[in-house]
Amino acid sequence: MIGIIGAMEEEVAALKEAMEVQETIERASMVFLRGELCGKDVVIVRSGIGKVNAGICTQILADRFGVDRLINTGIAGSLDAKIDIGDIVISTDALHHDMDATEFGYPVGQVPRMETLSFPADEELVKKAVKASEKVNPDIHTFTGRIASGDQFIASREVKEKIIQNFHPLCVEMEGAGIAHAASLNQISYVIIRAISDKADNSAHVDYPTFERQAIAHSVRLVKELLTLI
Ligand code: ADE
Repeated sequence: MIGIIGAMEEEVAALKEAMEVQETIERASMVFLRGELCGKDVVIVRSGIGKVNAGICTQILADRFGVDRLINTGIAGSLDAKIDIGDIVISTDALHHDMDATEFGYPVGQVPRMETLSFPADEELVKKAVKASEKVNPDIHTFTGRIASGDQFIASREVKEKIIQNFHPLCVEMEGAGIAHAASLNQISYVIIRAISDKADNSAHVDYPTFERQAIAHSVRLVKELLTLI
């Protein structure tokens, strides 16, 4: 069973419309649609925004639906000048940019008493997502690299620079590490697919509404193609 998580309704609406729904279940105020999409058994859900919602959602997908693979789709802010609005970033790994227990000697980003700073994505899913992206979105660029997540919408150059300096990620969003963290605890394979909606700086609120729709269209196309490959 494949779980597909989007934080916002706009991010999952097109996928929900395209699927054949067999069961609708509500848990923790989230509506899980189980059924078939592109020939695969899937559960699609809107988690809500932020890492706590994302982690809770992932745990329900594990416990109630027994998912063994997870796809997180949505939008993100670019942290690299060569990654433009509309481009796609596919995760190699994800981490919490807002976790800080440096006072106790942990590297910034690392959850205390956990072994790892970042949670690696599934290499096979990453490879297939790249292939799918290059096929269905030939007019834009596809990048693979680290994704940084935190419970903040990044719209200031200073905060953006700090995240880049600390972690060298390609983009920033608000759920990926919550999903990756929960997936890792449950030994579930995951990949995060994000389309860039803004530059995570002072221009973020200007760019955001304009490019959100276009960015979502890219990631929706990609997820559908990826499902045919896995
Ligand atoms: N999602 C899309 N753009 C973002 C940003 N600038 N910061 C955090 N999450 C985002």
